[in-house]
Amino acid sequence: MKLRRELLTARGNLSPEQLRVNAVKVRETLLDQPWAQMAGLVACYWSTGAEPETHGLVFALWKHGATVILPVLRENDDLDWAVYDGPDTLAPGRFGIMEPVDTRRGVDAIRTAALVIVPALAVDRKSGVRLGRGGGSYDRALARVGPNVPTVALLHDGELIDDVPAEPHDQRVRWAVTPRELTRLM
Ligand SMILES: Nc1ncnc2c1ncn2[C@@H]1O[C@H](COP(=O)(O)OP(=O)(O)O)[C@@H](O)[C@H]1O
Ligand SMILES: [Mg+2]
Repeated sequence: MKLRRELLTARGNLSPEQLRVNAVKVRETLLDQPWAQMAGLVACYWSTGAEPETHGLVFALWKHGATVILPVLRENDDLDWAVYDGPDTLAPGRFGIMEPVDTRRGVDAIRTAALVIVPALAVDRKSGVRLGRGGGSYDRALARVGPNVPTVALLHDGELIDDVPAEPHDQRVRWAVTPRELTRLM
């Protein structure tokens, strides 16, 4: 899809310094929210490449006493979940993405999260429709999340856009965080 390619190219042009600055802003914005501070079980992701960086965020949530679960990518592209227990408890999984070495809690572990933080290439500012990298993993995971749980996509500036194409299986997120702002979507 052309839109995915354009978004990935723009991400590829972000400097390491810009990525660091973005990560701090996104983390601070999110951790300022009472509903984020109070979540006892948080489903997050371990960022890779030019994705909005989550390593500091995961560490901060964990340090503040939350239980953080991170995805373990299954062969069928569905997401299993395992508990993060500090920086030394991750090992490369499929595609070299770091995953917790802890016991897998199953694809339904996300159902019990009080806060769900997901990656996205873009989010539709009107509908909250989320564009992923094309594997559909988070469409499956988000379909298991209850209606009252805050679901948050982390973005770089310029990735909260109009007219994200959506198919019936595409899931929406309720919040988007960019380095500039936090937006309630639905
Ligand atoms: N709930 C689901 N169950 C099974 N397969 C799904 C589901 N949601 C999405 N998929 C699969 O994932 C593929 C990619 O989805 P897509 O929305 O294009 O990716 P992404 O959301 O990662 O950008 C879909 O074509 C579909 O086959
Ligand atoms: Mg999708």
